[in-house]
Amino acid sequence: MSEAAGERLVKTERHGRAGLARLNRPEALNALSDALMAELGAALLAFDADPEIGAIIITGSERAFAAGADIREMKDRAYPDTFLNDFIGARWETILRVRKPVIAAVAGFALGGGCELAMMCDIVLAADTARFGQPEINLGIIPGAGGTQRLVRAVGKAKAMEMVLSGRMLSAEEAERANLVARVVPAAELIAEAIKLAERIGGLSPVAVAMAKQAVNSAFETTLRAGILHERQLFLSLFGTGDQREGMAAFLEKRSPRFRQS
Ligand code: HXC
Repeated sequence: MSEAAGERLVKTERHGRAGLARLNRPEALNALSDALMAELGAALLAFDADPEIGAIIITGSERAFAAGADIREMKDRAYPDTFLNDFIGARWETILRVRKPVIAAVAGFALGGGCELAMMCDIVLAADTARFGQPEINLGIIPGAGGTQRLVRAVGKAKAMEMVLSGRMLSAEEAERANLVARVVPAAELIAEAIKLAERIGGLSPVAVAMAKQAVNSAFETTLRAGILHERQLFLSLFGTGDQREGMAAFLEKRSPRFRQS
């Protein structure tokens, strides 16, 4: 719950088969406090377990997706408590357990942990107002939730090194050119576009979608040969599903497929 008036720190909405989690600490530009990360994790796991939901969206406000981990909360933290209390692992990695696709719909600032949260999502859609950065160096720290690793894989060493060492932010347009985001849309259309995308994915075969996500993620975590063998095993196993037969029959019968949704 929020500091103010018992408001939730993460509000959830459902739009057909799309589940939307909206970060709700506007007064702090959605700074990612422990409490907010715990609520977000719970919301994501609840959507993941819900057979009525096929894909998930995380978004913030018009001004900020999230301006990073909460600096006020971090200021007096000390080592080794940071280590013993598992500051990052305890709350920041819940999202990695989600098997359904997660879309980040980013408007305004996505900085520090906010940029890292977006990069942990499967697809990043950006409003033309979005700004991405890893400004931790200005605070005397470095990115701690995967920023130095996922940013390099997304944009390459040259740009990642400049961002991490200088804290320079990228505009939405530059982020799209650098492959940090899938697509830039006008700010007024961001949520509608994200819902459209989530509903489209959510209407497909849940097992094929979950395997597709797993297979693409393998590309970041293993060798090419091991990734290809993993893909092959997943591909072959889909021939044991009704959705494969339904998808192919529907194509040949020139009708829309009716995939098993739950
Ligand atoms: C706590 C934050 C915050 C943050 C903004 N606020 N970012 N509070 N933690 N990360 C608060 C401000 O203190 C202020 O509160 C209110 O939000 C509005 O912010 P302003 O600074 O007044 O707004 P503006 O001048 O428009 O500047 C926007 C901004 C700036 C450029 C985004 O707020 C900023 O630089 N924020 C910090 C960004 C950052 O360094 N992020 C990385 C954090 S470290 P008051 O009460 O004064 O109104 C990190 C490590 C992650 O993320 C590692 C994994 C855990």
